[in-house]
Amino acid sequence: MHPDDAAQLAQLYAQAQAAALLAYAPYSRFRVGAALLFDDGAVVTGCNVENASFGLTSCAERNALFRSVSERGASPRIVAIAVANANHASSPPCGACRQVLSEFVTPDALVVFPGQTGLALATVSFRSLLPHSFQFEAAL
Ligand code: THU
Repeated sequence: MHPDDAAQLAQLYAQAQAAALLAYAPYSRFRVGAALLFDDGAVVTGCNVENASFGLTSCAERNALFRSVSERGASPRIVAIAVANANHASSPPCGACRQVLSEFVTPDALVVFPGQTGLALATVSFRSLLPHSFQFEAAL
């Protein structure tokens, strides 16, 4: 799978859409799905899971990432990320998810999501979404 291939990104986005249908979002009713494409060819999906204690909600993107690390370890690197929702809204990954994903992305990783303009799909570089991620080395 090559992330520059539009057909591959469209397929990844379809997997994010399918994941959104599994979301547990009875409070916001905003169902989100994420699909991560790794450099070993694997795709791992996740959906948001909410809680009556609202702050315990976990986003689709982080659930997908944590699922991948839990099942396959931390070595595979992300080459593309698709985010979709069942609400026909623009949905780039939130800032918290960008920071978490930043430790696992390849330098040229791409992100596809419903954009602002007529909800046409936007494809942008991960770097453009989070140009200055926090890295622990910076604190040493
Ligand atoms: N949500 C995600 O799953 N991913 C994001 O990037 C932004 C927000 C979820 C969290 C919550 O369940 C719902 O969307 C509304 O914020």
